[in-house]
Amino acid sequence: MARPVCLVSGSSSGIGAATVAEFAAHGYDIALNYNSGRERAETIAAQLRQTHGVEVITLAADLAQGEAPFELVDRTFAHFGRLDVAISNSGVSNLLKDEQGQVVRYRFHETPSDHLDREMERVLSVNLMGAYRLAQRSLKHMLDLAQAELQAGAQPLHRSILLITSISDVAPDSTRIPYGVSKAGVNHVVLGAAFEGGPYNITVNALRPGVVDTPMTSRLSGVKDEKSGRELTVAEVYNLMAQGGLQPIRRIGRPEDIARAAFCFTQLPYMTGQSIAVDGGFTLVSGFPNRDLFLQEALRRRQEGQA
Ligand SMILES: NC(=O)c1ccc[n+]([C@@H]2O[C@H](COP(=O)([O-])OP(=O)(O)OC[C@H]3O[C@@H](n4cnc5c(N)ncnc54)[C@H](OP(=O)(O)O)[C@@H]3O)[C@@H](O)[C@H]2O)c1
Repeated sequence: MARPVCLVSGSSSGIGAATVAEFAAHGYDIALNYNSGRERAETIAAQLRQTHGVEVITLAADLAQGEAPFELVDRTFAHFGRLDVAISNSGVSNLLKDEQGQVVRYRFHETPSDHLDREMERVLSVNLMGAYRLAQRSLKHMLDLAQAELQAGAQPLHRSILLITSISDVAPDSTRIPYGVSKAGVNHVVLGAAFEGGPYNITVNALRPGVVDTPMTSRLSGVKDEKSGRELTVAEVYNLMAQGGLQPIRRIGRPEDIARAAFCFTQLPYMTGQSIAVDGGFTLVSGFPNRDLFLQEALRRRQEGQA
């Protein structure tokens, strides 16, 4: 029997790279998409072929370009003749750099209009429209396959679409509102697609990662390590905060944590239309366990005459 096929956008790095490895380990043939990381993509593909003996094709596509997500799905389907799992994972943050390569951040109410336009264009074109179109075209192919199976008198196979969004859909950061807007928008895409896919055994869900150690979080944070004098990365700062109790699981995520969850979410024929966090408990931050922390801070401020 032919192997099942999984397409993952943005699988040349981070969470996407771990996800194609997870599916290859489970015997899936892989369509591995990259944008700028051709060499990385080819290296990952070669490793997967060698380790797991599955077929891996690499497909270039800049998902910010209107037709590119449709073509990516069409090329995958044309090559393999089937599509069992489609995962929209490509993503960028809204943070832009100046001519010196420094990240430019503005608070919500101070962001100049032209800057906001550029940030929005960046995140909406890749994170929202890229994901939207990838899900649309994947669903279309999956519906065609299911209808053909029904016409042949067979039950349609379970197929699945998964959108990698973020806990930034609800967890606010005033300099990253556009990113959160794009991810919250994708959570809504899941709802319509789930209604159309359900009758044909196609499930559609979103996975909302917390902070994960990937190239996306490897940028410098502006926070210095007092011991070494070295500037810490965003991932390192969140890892320290996790150790200090920011989240119940006292470390940030690894790409493999998300990849494993992504595999599980796509194997559940009775779960659809859901947007679920895999975040070590980050989004439980305001819970009762932190009451001592907040009480101590309030008492400290009172003592200093701040409150
Ligand atoms: N890391 C975190 O803490 C975190 C938390 C929550 C959600 N997420 C989400 O998880 C997903 C993966 O992020 P990551 O952390 O693994 O980041 P990453 O290591 O920076 O990987 C991003 C991937 O997206 C691809 N990509 C970027 N722009 C693209 C475009 N225009 N067209 C097609 N592909 C494009 C990149 O391809 P090339 O490298 O080939 O250009 C790369 O494969 C993203 O959607 C991100 O928003 C991440």
